[in-house]
Amino acid sequence: MARYGTLMARTYDVLSGEPVYGVGRRVAVRALGLRPGDRVLDVGCGTGLNLPLLLDAVGPEGTVVGLDRSAAMLRVARRKARGHPSVRLVAGDAADPAALDEAAGDTPFDAVLATYSLSLMPDPAAVWRAVRGVLAPTARVAVVDMAVPTGPWAWAAPLARAACALGGADIDAHPWEVVERDLAGVRSWSRRGGHVRVSVGTLP
Ligand SMILES: C[S@@+](CC[C@H](N)C(=O)[O-])C[C@H]1O[C@@H](n2cnc3c(N)ncnc32)[C@H](O)[C@@H]1O
Repeated sequence: MARYGTLMARTYDVLSGEPVYGVGRRVAVRALGLRPGDRVLDVGCGTGLNLPLLLDAVGPEGTVVGLDRSAAMLRVARRKARGHPSVRLVAGDAADPAALDEAAGDTPFDAVLATYSLSLMPDPAAVWRAVRGVLAPTARVAVVDMAVPTGPWAWAAPLARAACALGGADIDAHPWEVVERDLAGVRSWSRRGGHVRVSVGTLP
């Protein structure tokens, strides 16, 4: 995937718009209610912007596994993971059950997080099916993704569409919808005028 090649990987952390998008990761990680020792999967982990939050939540006795299909993005994530033996970064397609099996090893995940990644994937339902296969019963699930801003923020819709198009995301994909159907106790948050959507629930 050329879009997340070396140049984008090198500039991603500066250009990814954390003042807008960082709130989504913070809300989602808090809502996941991770506990020390948990095993958590980060789907489409990119350069590892979620790593500090996840490491903080699961502690040194927990495990964070990032899965991404871009070798260049993973190279940047690996630098952030240095000194943290509880982080594993796996290269693979999130729709491929074999890649998920490799990410899980023999132990299912207690929680999974996907931030701004499912809307890039052509078939979020297939990804969710594959991810479900490596989750523990009653695992907690968080999806953070983008939508067109509305209400007083509607003026920003063209900007939001342009930003998503630049990153290869489909702003109209609403991938949380396909995941929410399979969850219990779903809670959702809307931030940045509805542009950032967070959805968290538990496998029943
Ligand atoms: C916009 S970035 C988001 C990265 C990170 N989750 C974040 O919040 O900053 C999307 C990431 O999804 C990855 N990606 C896209 N399609 C994928 C797929 N089918 N399997 C695994 N990773 C994928 C890209 O390589 C990229 O690193």
